[in-house]
Amino acid sequence: MLPMEKGKFITIDGVEGAGKSTQIDYIYDYLSRSGRNIIITREPGGTDLGKKIRELLLEGETSSMHSDTELLLMFADRNEHINSKVIPALERGDWVISDRFSDASYAYQGGGRGLNMERILELENWVLHGFIPDLTLLLDVDVELGLQRVNSRGNKDRIEQETMDFFVRVRDAYIQRSKMFPDRIKLIDASKTIEFTSQQIKNILLDL
Ligand code: TMP
Repeated sequence: MLPMEKGKFITIDGVEGAGKSTQIDYIYDYLSRSGRNIIITREPGGTDLGKKIRELLLEGETSSMHSDTELLLMFADRNEHINSKVIPALERGDWVISDRFSDASYAYQGGGRGLNMERILELENWVLHGFIPDLTLLLDVDVELGLQRVNSRGNKDRIEQETMDFFVRVRDAYIQRSKMFPDRIKLIDASKTIEFTSQQIKNILLDL
């Protein structure tokens, strides 16, 4: 018997209001048509323990947590997520789509909070041991437009309450990463219609 083919790990990332959820639904429908088993998950909060970590991370006031604590909680969530959910699913041959992954730590904690990128890399090596997504879709949108979309949704969580400057730094860090890893991270213009964004994603998935 042929050995079971491993699944693919696709992550989707970007600043607030980039439209990730809508596009994840699109990707799910598109990939399911080929008969694959698709698992949708998220960070933070993709596991039972992760849901509790997510609450700790997103409730309260912006300044209520030390930046290093925030980074460590993101990686605690990630450690649980990959070990108990993502890697076992890929080994079964399922495809996994994660709403955010470690690029978000470089963008938010590195870019936004100004933490040292080298320290984030050390943590990443410690937790992920070189495990990386097969593909990362980076939905890029102007920060002002993204925040307008978030504002129209109502209550903001602890991170969404951050300043415009914070999100500009987050976006810049994401774009920087897409330049560092052009084969893995595909920058997508998410500022136009939903259909236009989906079309760009479809073209990339066809290549995969
Ligand atoms: P979400 O709103 O897309 O579900 O993400 C929750 C928030 O967590 C969002 O503001 C981005 C932030 N985040 C980080 O700051 N660092 C990380 O490593 C991850 C995964 C998310």
